[in-house]
Amino acid sequence: TPSLSLSLSLSLSLSLSLSLSLRYVQSLMEILEFLDRRPEDQKVLQDFVETLVTIRNRHNDVVPTMAQGVIEYKEMFGHDPVTSQNIQYFLDRFYMSRISIRMLINQHTLIFDPASQPVPSTIGCIDPNCRVTEVIQDAYECARMLCEQYYLCSPELELKELNESEPIHISYVPSHLYHVLFELFKNAMRATIESHESSSTLPPIGVMVALGGEDLSIKMSDRGGGVPARKIEQLFSYMYSTAPRPEITTNRRTPLAGFGYGLPLSRLYVRYFQGDLQLYPLEGFGTDAVIHLKALSTDSVEKLPVFNQTALRHYTSSHEADDWCAPRKEPLDLARDRVAK
Ligand SMILES: Nc1ncnc2c1ncn2[C@@H]1O[C@H](COP(=O)(O)OP(=O)(O)OP(=O)(O)O)[C@@H](O)[C@H]1O
Ligand SMILES: *[C@@H]1O[C@H](CO)[C@@H](O)[C@H](O)[C@H]1NC(C)=O
Ligand SMILES: *[C@@H]1O[C@H](CO)[C@@H](O)[C@H](O)[C@H]1NC(C)=O
Ligand SMILES: [Mg+2]
Repeated sequence: TPSLSLSLSLSLSLSLSLSLSLRYVQSLMEILEFLDRRPEDQKVLQDFVETLVTIRNRHNDVVPTMAQGVIEYKEMFGHDPVTSQNIQYFLDRFYMSRISIRMLINQHTLIFDPASQPVPSTIGCIDPNCRVTEVIQDAYECARMLCEQYYLCSPELELKELNESEPIHISYVPSHLYHVLFELFKNAMRATIESHESSSTLPPIGVMVALGGEDLSIKMSDRGGGVPARKIEQLFSYMYSTAPRPEITTNRRTPLAGFGYGLPLSRLYVRYFQGDLQLYPLEGFGTDAVIHLKALSTDSVEKLPVFNQTALRHYTSSHEADDWCAPRKEPLDLARDRVAK
């Protein structure tokens, strides 16, 4: 019955969020124990590294757990614009903090864990001379492998670097850049293949890298048919995906898409160091995804959310009504479908 399933899902999402927050409390308590211990002591340092590793592992599956929680929350409290906007606002800030905490933990364990084998040219997870095109190539190869497994074909890569006299490099965290490019490649490949099902050749994915005095820009262009401009913001919303939802339990074959977290998380990764990610679709043709990073390491500083009155107002203020007259937000035939249902 509806009421039974409602109370079941209520207790499920409550227990999910409870176990999630208990884990955060436990990690905080474990960190606090080090407050009055001497950091010069080797034993203390060793214990601290071990605690950090335990904490990192404890929170490995936060993203799928949160995703499940959000699905259940929406089932209960609805899909209205205000709820969705608050969830989006909350998750952007929650995941940004998570990116930052994990970056700090990684940095500390890479530098102080005697068991970790340091790469001489890097400082922890930061590479002062990160070769951008090498990261692009790695991300492409990995996405292509997945793509071949799933679709048995894959589009080529056309990589163009604007200044070829010297490989472009910046000071950056290669794993962040890799993550973002890998997500963008997966999306571009899926769109390219699914929009060319009937043709025998696939158009390549073009990537261009440009370095200026302030920005390092990467543009990835696919010819996968694009999406309507109206939907651009939607693509960045957590949970929005046009792919069939994969089953979490069976990981026999990693699917190319499915949870709808690729774009929003990627945008957070680049915003974390003051960059940005934008999509420029040309519906009927393809999509350009543009990444802007700061070229100078002095500009690449951490961006973190703070919780104060301004933040609180986002959740509590009554959301203003529109101040532009627009008879409807959706095309006529879609709106009519809605009414028919
Ligand atoms: N290059 C593209 N061309 C056309 N549509 C795209 C492109 N990139 C993204 N999209 C659309 O945006 C949606 C959301 O993308 P996103 O990467 O956030 O999630 P996903 O690919 O569906 O799942 P995953 O979390 O596995 O990445 C996709 O389902 C797809 O419909
Ligand atoms: C390419 O890079 C080199 C070395 O940094 C620089 O001297 C040259 O002016 C650059 N050329 C262009 C076209 O930007
Ligand atoms: C909230 O914090 C931000 C960043 O520190 C600050 O710019 C803003 O003025 C603060 N808002 C209030 C109401 O204190
Ligand atoms: Mg994706």
